[in-house]
Amino acid sequence: MGFPVVRPRRLRSSENIRRLVRETVLTVNDFLYPVFVMHGRGESRPVEAMPGVANWSVDVCLRELEEVVALGLPGILVFGLPAAKDELGREAYSDDGIVQRAVRAVKEHYPELLVVTDVCLCEYTSHGHCGVVKDGAVDNDATLELIARTAVSHAAAGADVVAPSDMMDGRVGAVRSALDGAGFSHIPVMAYSAKYASAFYGPFREAAGSAPQFGDRRGYQMDPANADEALREVWQDLEEGADIVMVKPALAYLDVIRRVKQETGHPVAAYNVSGEYAAVKAAAGHGWLDERRTVLEVLTGIKRAGADIVITYHAREAARWLRES
Ligand code: PBG
Repeated sequence: MGFPVVRPRRLRSSENIRRLVRETVLTVNDFLYPVFVMHGRGESRPVEAMPGVANWSVDVCLRELEEVVALGLPGILVFGLPAAKDELGREAYSDDGIVQRAVRAVKEHYPELLVVTDVCLCEYTSHGHCGVVKDGAVDNDATLELIARTAVSHAAAGADVVAPSDMMDGRVGAVRSALDGAGFSHIPVMAYSAKYASAFYGPFREAAGSAPQFGDRRGYQMDPANADEALREVWQDLEEGADIVMVKPALAYLDVIRRVKQETGHPVAAYNVSGEYAAVKAAAGHGWLDERRTVLEVLTGIKRAGADIVITYHAREAARWLRES
């Protein structure tokens, strides 16, 4: 049976019939909002390539989060800019590191807001790599201990979920057992499982001051050409105890999001990264795209692909638009 009996347009003829047959509905419950915190007071330093995103001192962050909480966003993902960088990224696992301070302050003011922390060394190391550098290369096993220490110190500061993003082999297991050993067996791990070596992280490296000072991250982040490998990474992280697995970036990897959701059935997060945000903002800024429609379409597409959680810098604006609609 086909045309003229079958006419798909019948179900597109009014907004109300479209609402009834709509398969994917975006809500504020889908979003996790990334924030960048830094030392100081009363500071808000805009990130040039990410209009609407800034590095905030903790007091400014608390003020900004008032709206985030009022909008009903479930949580934030915290990144930190340290006071100083060194070879071993010491501030990453220091009790009075910037993330630890921010987490304590946020949990004190907004106890219900879910605080997820990015666990990595790249913002904290002088060389900008995600781990310990030995003989010009990132040493996997030497890095694991520092990543695990960072995760435990975040949990001790009050983080609700920790999210290792370093892409070292075995990090999820190392983080899980360190958390369990320190009395944090109730804290979930959201693993950046399929994290690709992507050009779309460019603006983030300005926001977090984390560009590698030599070489690149292709020795530990994934080759953009691979999808079967993403499934192996995801299964390995699940076996090591990951509670949520992530695909990152999102838009060039919608097929990977779909496969991970379909083949594992576990909660999947997708990271709508800085470059994806910057591209939409830049085009919208020129009047070349309708920003609201484009953003909602992008976020709906990521959810339709299979993401349960969409990590996005658009979260706040999208939540405002969804409230209005
Ligand atoms: C690194 C980290 C990166 C992002 C999140 N965690 C950057 C990188 O791997 O270079 C990228 C986020 C974005 O681009 O929005 N720990």
